[in-house]
Amino acid sequence: MIQLKKGVYWVGAVDWDIKNFHGYVTHRGTSYNSYLLVSDKVALVDTVKAPFYETMLRHVKEVIEPDKIDYIIANHGEPDHSGSLVKISEAAPYAEIVATERGKNILTKYYGPLEITTTKEKPELDLGGKTLHFVPVPMAHWPDSMVTYIPEDRLLLSNDAFGQHLASTGRFDDEVDKDVLMHETTAYYANILMPLNSSVGRALKALEGTPIEMIAPSHGVIWRSNLEDILKKYVGWVEGRTQPKVVIAYDSMWHSTEIMTHAIAEGITSTGTELKVFNLTQNHRSDAITEILDCKAILIGSPTLNNTVFPTVAAFLAYLRGLRPANKIGAAYGSFGWGGGAKKYVEKELKDTGVELIDNDLEFGFRPTDEEWRKCYEFGRMIGERVKQS
Ligand code: FEO
Repeated sequence: MIQLKKGVYWVGAVDWDIKNFHGYVTHRGTSYNSYLLVSDKVALVDTVKAPFYETMLRHVKEVIEPDKIDYIIANHGEPDHSGSLVKISEAAPYAEIVATERGKNILTKYYGPLEITTTKEKPELDLGGKTLHFVPVPMAHWPDSMVTYIPEDRLLLSNDAFGQHLASTGRFDDEVDKDVLMHETTAYYANILMPLNSSVGRALKALEGTPIEMIAPSHGVIWRSNLEDILKKYVGWVEGRTQPKVVIAYDSMWHSTEIMTHAIAEGITSTGTELKVFNLTQNHRSDAITEILDCKAILIGSPTLNNTVFPTVAAFLAYLRGLRPANKIGAAYGSFGWGGGAKKYVEKELKDTGVELIDNDLEFGFRPTDEEWRKCYEFGRMIGERVKQS
């Protein structure tokens, strides 16, 4: 039994096996966190993904019989948090379900008619010694999203915000490796929340001045020791702050775009600027996105295949466009056989993504010559210097 605060229990489930969360590679699994609040009244905040219902139920029963639950709070309707709502409400037949108005629409669309009280009707609930304040945070992550704040415990149940896809034996931030934790927190923000910067910013604003001692998200570990670090990170991400770092994402058919990539990489490296390189066949696009979150420059290399861009690069660009990274400069380059096309395609996509394009003529036929190799190297040097000074 894991107790966060007196009368507040973690009753969720750890998903060690999941390696792909709607298109984002989750190397370290995840968890679905539900919280049970026991006072004069009992509330369950969020449920778990449907296959983990029995695990959640067992954890609830370690604290209290489920028919003693008075309220089920649905902070968010996405099925990783609402998948066990119907089953737990059957086991807790006296429980009143509470969600935002938009949450009510989403939940009834997913699960059919359900009796749901909206937070407009009940913006807060008194459990006796514990008050639940519902704070709508639309689009952090979905239109229905809200967080639940308990002032008596200075505890924020933040649902998706501040989460990480991280399965672990530790339930708190000081019980896991800090580098791993910050990496997974970054990956989560980059792949889920990056396009919602302004909504997350509004959510942070809504919570400004609220005394918070602990943040308990619905994925990953609970923040009790590194609150300042995580809040600072979120503020930087929301503002689109960048580091002097370059990310290259590329693919190659017959090593020519690869040779160009390595030449550009050598040029960047010679300036001392940080660089990450992702071959898009060897790496998952979401890992490249994690590094793109705070980088200054994105370089995309693609060979021309059938007069257009290489398929792995096309998929990456589609993903990147949806995530709308802010404040980036970027460029395209690549090789071709008898006719180009990929560079133009990539440049249009980068422009439409909002990336400031850096002109170049790095599109070479068949194998790059020594002179062309040198051009790539010099381009890398120019990018490295420019990013270093940004
Ligand atoms: Fe973890 Fe938006 O669901």
